[in-house]
Amino acid sequence: MKDVAIVGIGMTPFGELWDMSFRNLFAEAALAAIGDAGVDHIDSMYVGSMSPGLFIHQEHIAAMLADYLGVAGIPSTRVESACASGGLAVRSAIFEVASGASDIVLAGGVEKMNDGADATFALATAADQEYEAFHGITFPGLYAFIANAHMAKYGTTREQLADVAVKNHGHGALNPKAQFPFTITREQVMNATMVADPLRLLDCSPVTDGAAAVIVTTLETAEKLGKPIVKVIASGAATDGIALHSRKDVTTIPSVALAAERAFSQADLTPEKIDVAEVHDCFTIAELVVTEELGFVDRGKSGEAVSAGETKLGGRIPINTSGGLKSKGHPVGASGVAQVIEIVDQLRGSAGDRQVEGARYGLTQNMGGSGASCVVHIMEGVS
Ligand code: COA
Repeated sequence: MKDVAIVGIGMTPFGELWDMSFRNLFAEAALAAIGDAGVDHIDSMYVGSMSPGLFIHQEHIAAMLADYLGVAGIPSTRVESACASGGLAVRSAIFEVASGASDIVLAGGVEKMNDGADATFALATAADQEYEAFHGITFPGLYAFIANAHMAKYGTTREQLADVAVKNHGHGALNPKAQFPFTITREQVMNATMVADPLRLLDCSPVTDGAAAVIVTTLETAEKLGKPIVKVIASGAATDGIALHSRKDVTTIPSVALAAERAFSQADLTPEKIDVAEVHDCFTIAELVVTEELGFVDRGKSGEAVSAGETKLGGRIPINTSGGLKSKGHPVGASGVAQVIEIVDQLRGSAGDRQVEGARYGLTQNMGGSGASCVVHIMEGVS
């Protein structure tokens, strides 16, 4: 297997982008990534998109987007794994380059969720239709179930959940591409409209339009391009049952621990070595459970860690410096790619006001549904 690097990044602003179509969003991100890498062609591409059929009534998007980008002829593959579609698109590109089959591969993600579709219905198709969605439960409801169980088992408090949103909005306020680039207070979160008890509006990631893309190549080609190099040192993935009730303990997300174990073993690193991480905070409780599964904090201690500032910029292990899904936005197919972009920016030392000083190792964690699929990447800044 060849060593792999990421040499180009590009993304649109995230938000309610009424002036941008699905294909324009993708093309803007892809062209920015190609320009950033300074490459004159791509050999192949992967596109993460969860549900364009339901959101904009368009399937067959991989060929359509290659054509719109002006590269018709190359292989183009759509990757779908609910909200982990973007992370899996990046993983697919990494393997295609590592295998030697292609030299320069684009991995993108795109979702246009604000175009009149019933976003809650479309998102709920990633839950088990027979045992969950049929009975009316949606993702806010499923994560509320996890939150209640975590609160009961570990004494995690409503205030600690709120502090995740406060932290991520604090980071997102420094990110001009974020959908909600403003700070919020604990009181605002705790008094926001109830969505699914105990989760309120400001505990939830929003409904977002956006696209993100990266250029993946061999370390050898990256060196020739003369650009800052971020090496991919691990890609771990795992699956679990799609329905939450089949999980032995709903305060856990086992696919995250499995994917992380595989990634840490490939990278030959431990969680303590990671300088900065982007994790899947689709709801505040998700970030808490995930930080435990990744080994950044002890089980049951994630609430205390966030309230003590351990996971904010300047803390022991800064998490979601981009603002995370909560403040930056969550165009589901694009989120996993945007996480990689934030880590590449951090490892290049070009994250501006959000920079984690001296960051060398960065991690991304992207998951689908209530954790039936998960992808973890570990990257190292080498120049
Ligand atoms: N964070 C901050 N502000 C938000 C927000 C969020 N998550 N969601 C909406 N807002 C703001 C809107 O901008 C709007 O502000 P305005 O009145 O000043 O314009 C206001 O809150 C109401 O927004 P609206 O779009 O009417 O909310 P909604 O009730 O339609 O949707 C949620 C709110 C939380 C239900 C929706 O965002 C949601 O379903 N989120 C979860 C998405 C999800 O499940 N993703 C997959 C995860 S697995």
